Amino acid sequence: ALFPPPARPLAGVRLLLTAGPTREPLDPVRFLGNRSSGRMGFALAEALTELGAHVVLVAGPVTLPAPRVAERVDVETALDMHGAVMERAADCDLFVATAAVADYRPMDPAENKIKKNADELTLRLVRNPDILAEVAALDSPPFTVGFAAETDHVEEYARDKLKRKKLDMIAANQVGGTHGGFERAENALTVIWRDGQRELPMMDKTQLARELAQLIVERYQEHHA
Ligand code: CTP
Ligand code: CA
Repeated sequence: ALFPPPARPLAGVRLLLTAGPTREPLDPVRFLGNRSSGRMGFALAEALTELGAHVVLVAGPVTLPAPRVAERVDVETALDMHGAVMERAADCDLFVATAAVADYRPMDPAENKIKKNADELTLRLVRNPDILAEVAALDSPPFTVGFAAETDHVEEYARDKLKRKKLDMIAANQVGGTHGGFERAENALTVIWRDGQRELPMMDKTQLARELAQLIVERYQEHHA
């Protein structure tokens, strides 16, 4: 061959990745959601597959072309995503949480469509489980990579999440306003681990995913050295 075969540093690595938003039902026809497109997660799932990993993608509702991954599990709510991940987390080597999981869900979704009778409507919400924190707290946890989408104090909040959730790595980005992130084709990331940090400047999400995947490989290999 004219070219060397592509390097597959993650060959044999079992990788679980969450992506997309979740939907929390209010009644049979309505939900609480968020602006995640799932684009960054899907691009990262493909980049990690290209590096040889066996990727199981747990995806919330997105409108994206099917990514090239080993397996895809579609879910709707945070509780569904939690169930799908916890069933598989003990048997994976690497866990990457890119999903924009709803922090709260309606406590008591209505069985029938809510009618507009009253002038005011109060929703009661309860907290969803933190999937990433739960995986990182397992007895022998996989190498865990989280994301942090912040509108402000990006690095400070991301460092706090890295510590509090006991993650191996976190990728932080600024969202909202004119920045990249949600609903955009481009993004920039600050990637932080216990003893290092790297800035990945604003670029196309496919390219950004490749660079982040490369960083994950480096940290993962050092972790197992
Ligand atoms: N995450 C998760 N399960 C949740 C909430 C978040 O797995 N119920 C993961 C996300 O996929 C992401 C990371 O945790 O990798 C951080 O999510 P983020 O919303 O930024 O942080 P939270 O811990 O939810 O804190 P807050 O929203 O208050 O900033
Ligand atoms: Ca959150």
